[in-house]
Amino acid sequence: MATIVGCVTTSHVPAIGGAIARGLQHEPYWQPFFDGFPPIREWLGRARPDAAVVFYNDHGLNFFLDKMPTFAVGAAPQYRNADEGWGIPTLPAFPGDPELSWRLIEHLVESDFDITSCQEMLVDHAFTMPMKLLWPDAGSSWPLPTVPVCINTVQHPLPSARRCVELGRAVGEAVRRWPADRRVLLIGSGGLSHQLDGRRAGFINKEFDQRFMQSLVDDPAWAAKYSIRELVELTGTQGVELLMWMAARAALGDGAELLHANYHIPISNTAAGTMAFAPAA
Ligand code: DHB
Ligand code: FE
Repeated sequence: MATIVGCVTTSHVPAIGGAIARGLQHEPYWQPFFDGFPPIREWLGRARPDAAVVFYNDHGLNFFLDKMPTFAVGAAPQYRNADEGWGIPTLPAFPGDPELSWRLIEHLVESDFDITSCQEMLVDHAFTMPMKLLWPDAGSSWPLPTVPVCINTVQHPLPSARRCVELGRAVGEAVRRWPADRRVLLIGSGGLSHQLDGRRAGFINKEFDQRFMQSLVDDPAWAAKYSIRELVELTGTQGVELLMWMAARAALGDGAELLHANYHIPISNTAAGTMAFAPAA
């Protein structure tokens, strides 16, 4: 049976791509953010994942407001990145894992999730930034195939946090029931508190972010008690991307060992957090 080796959650910001392209990782502005990753990369070297399920939110590259699935799962042999207009380098295509994709899709539909399966899918910075941060030396080929799991945080109504936790749990079940000798990493990309537009542009809520990060250690469904409206009030219109952290962490199972955590304000407009967990011993 397949094994889940762990879960990494991180904020994503397009400007990370620019900082990497310009080699600014050790500049005072960027270093506190990039410092969150070497311990996680060391652990990944030991954990040896050979596939990654990436929970992320598309920002208008693959899905636009005219067609917006609540949950979408990639089932493509590869996922291309494309220019979103941020001026950051486009990254090489990511290999897919259609066998794992269809495992997830079949189990999710059997579990009453109405998902959109995508045999063609572009992936945006929310998918590419964590991959580049975890495998900075990947060059033109990535070391492992991926399955994108996309959750709508762009066009309201959004799925509730409770539903995203349930989705994550079902993804975890699907992976654990996969009769393949494979080692799967879970990635959750989004958040933490930030708001890019409107009267509260620049909003950050450190107190909530830190309470939320702690909850992922010992009570991973804690934030599911909040409605989407409450989460937007607490974390900002884009802070609600923390749904990706909840789904990815839920897929790992209830208990988990915290391997590493980092939190830094701000990176661009975002409170940038990074965490890594191993399954409970
Ligand atoms: C920023 C944050 C995001 O989550 C995003 O998708 C785009 C930009 C930012 O802080 O600049
Ligand atoms: Fe975002």
